[in-house]
Amino acid sequence: MTQRQPIGIFDSGVGGLSVAKEIRKLLPCEDLLYYADTAYCPYGEKDPAVIRQREKNIVKFLLSRGAKLIVVACNTASSAGLEELRNLFAVPIVGMEPGVKPAVAASRNGTIGVLATGVTIAGDRFAALVKRYAEHTRVITQPCPGLVELIESGKLADPETEKVLQGFLRPMLEQGADTIVLGCTHYPFLRPLIERLAGSDIAVIDTGAAVAKQVQKVLFEHNLAVPEGPPGSEQFFTSGNPQEVAKVMRTLWLHDNLQVQSLPLKTT
Ligand code: SIN
Repeated sequence: MTQRQPIGIFDSGVGGLSVAKEIRKLLPCEDLLYYADTAYCPYGEKDPAVIRQREKNIVKFLLSRGAKLIVVACNTASSAGLEELRNLFAVPIVGMEPGVKPAVAASRNGTIGVLATGVTIAGDRFAALVKRYAEHTRVITQPCPGLVELIESGKLADPETEKVLQGFLRPMLEQGADTIVLGCTHYPFLRPLIERLAGSDIAVIDTGAAVAKQVQKVLFEHNLAVPEGPPGSEQFFTSGNPQEVAKVMRTLWLHDNLQVQSLPLKTT
């Protein structure tokens, strides 16, 4: 393994770009490969066994392109398959978890709300997280069916998105949550809308920057970081329609010329 090899990042779709952006900011010289499993998006209400199979195929693909470290930039995929991936593959693998720990620290009244997918909320990893960090905190969980699809279609500030989001936020705010965890990597793209709807008294927690720091730490530990040199490159792949995906990715990555390559991976 050499320093010049890329970092492989994947998500069910475009949401993991919220993490990839933090990685790009912190590690400007690294080459990045990004795989969006758009044909199978959303993962959030799927059978975890199907998600695990997708994850294995995607990691194999990223390794075949030389990835030196894998980032599972998806809370649902991390919940369903992170442990199995770490058992199967020898490269370092960094995953996501909802920011329950920072939310507990930020909350003034001991009530936090967690927006995430059904799979993430029902998973053992989430239960362990709550047990470890939030035993004395009231945790209100809210699955958000439909929200990922709106973000995938680029509707970040539409009245439709606002209405759907309002329906998810209202119950936790009415129950007194003063801190909201964005437990899915798609949701940071709705942060301006969430902050406007929730109001300025509510803290919003997203773990993208912390995950980027963890990637940096792991790269240094393995002597795999590119500390200086020319700016790194990015390559984007999708199992979905590359033109459609590119349109949305361009607005999220803020790059007019971003190209996406078609790379369907069979679930075997
Ligand atoms: C989804 O694909 O449903 C959500 C991805 C995530 O949990 O980050």
